[in-house]
Amino acid sequence: MATRPKFPATELALHNFDTSYSIQLRDLWPSIRVAMLCEQKYGALINSFSSAPNVINELEAQGCKDFISIDCTRNEVHLSSQDSTTSHRASTELQSSISPDIKCLVFPKGDISRFKPAGPDSSGILGYYLLDAASVLPVLALDVQAGHTVLDLCAAPGGKTLALLQTHSVNYLWANDLSGSRTMRLRRTLQSYLPKEFLDENKIHITSTDGRQLGMTEEKSFDRVLVDVPCTTDRHSAMVEENNIFKRSRTKERQKLPLLQTQLLLAGIQATRRGGKVVYSTCSLSQLQNECVVQQAISLAQQELGITVQVQDLRWFAQRFSDTFHFAPQLSVGELVLPHLCANFGPIYMCKLQRMN
Ligand SMILES: C[S@@+](CC[C@H](N)C(=O)[O-])C[C@H]1O[C@@H](n2cnc3c(N)ncnc32)[C@H](O)[C@@H]1O
Repeated sequence: MATRPKFPATELALHNFDTSYSIQLRDLWPSIRVAMLCEQKYGALINSFSSAPNVINELEAQGCKDFISIDCTRNEVHLSSQDSTTSHRASTELQSSISPDIKCLVFPKGDISRFKPAGPDSSGILGYYLLDAASVLPVLALDVQAGHTVLDLCAAPGGKTLALLQTHSVNYLWANDLSGSRTMRLRRTLQSYLPKEFLDENKIHITSTDGRQLGMTEEKSFDRVLVDVPCTTDRHSAMVEENNIFKRSRTKERQKLPLLQTQLLLAGIQATRRGGKVVYSTCSLSQLQNECVVQQAISLAQQELGITVQVQDLRWFAQRFSDTFHFAPQLSVGELVLPHLCANFGPIYMCKLQRMN
């Protein structure tokens, strides 16, 4: 029988979080801590490639709602009560930059019901994919438009890749992940969710390589790049012993994360076309892995690559989804979904950048 480790990694993680997050998040930390130690909520990302009947109706009959369209309606109402010209302009802008094709259903705030596993259609294609609903936000923020070429730099196991494909706008998608075994999982996910004919169209290119190299080899190639980096996966690290980055044997790897994240973001920026957009995301609360990485990558892009990058404001975006998610009070750059007992999603950090030259 395996003996309990002297220092369980989950305890080391919590100790580390207590030390750093009580300073970073101050009086918000105790309630976030409790939420992270409780059961996480999921969302059902609807698979529009499946012809399984009544998927949405059945989920709605259980009390779920598509958070993307409901939060859109609420904001239109809210905006139209302000100055009419501004509200019209703002709501049109919100409408046009969020893909109407992605649907993700969640149970209401405070409802901790669980989803049943998704069923297949007659070809075996599953009707929905279960994931932390907040992890759809970086994909929505990326704002993929018709005909775009998209790079998903750290793609496995593939939840966000699948969400990107639900936009039906991607002309070409390169999904990469360093880990061979995780890339296999990504392939299996896509095979379970996409018809064979779609996979045969050669619109999706899957590789297993170090994403840091793609900056140079694929310079200025993509309209949109998603950089969903490896991080301390805070919720997992606080709860699960297996594959925990707070294990003593992984200390060096953990300490090097901000450097790896910065290098991956720089590669993502380099692979973006002039005028193109990059979204950087993590599932950590850590300022060092979030805002600091973004700031560092912006200055290195300028100094070392001569690339000017501008941070795109996502405050309106956070406001739009504030009925479903709890966002951190204003950060220096980017937006952060905080775990909360009534809406136990996240943590998910995202920051959107535009390449200017
Ligand atoms: C947060 S996970 C990505 C989750 C994925 N985007 C999704 O939504 O399912 C981070 C991934 O980065 C991969 N990774 C780590 N180092 C990498 C590198 N140097 N280049 C590319 N991928 C890397 C890991 O194998 C891991 O699968």
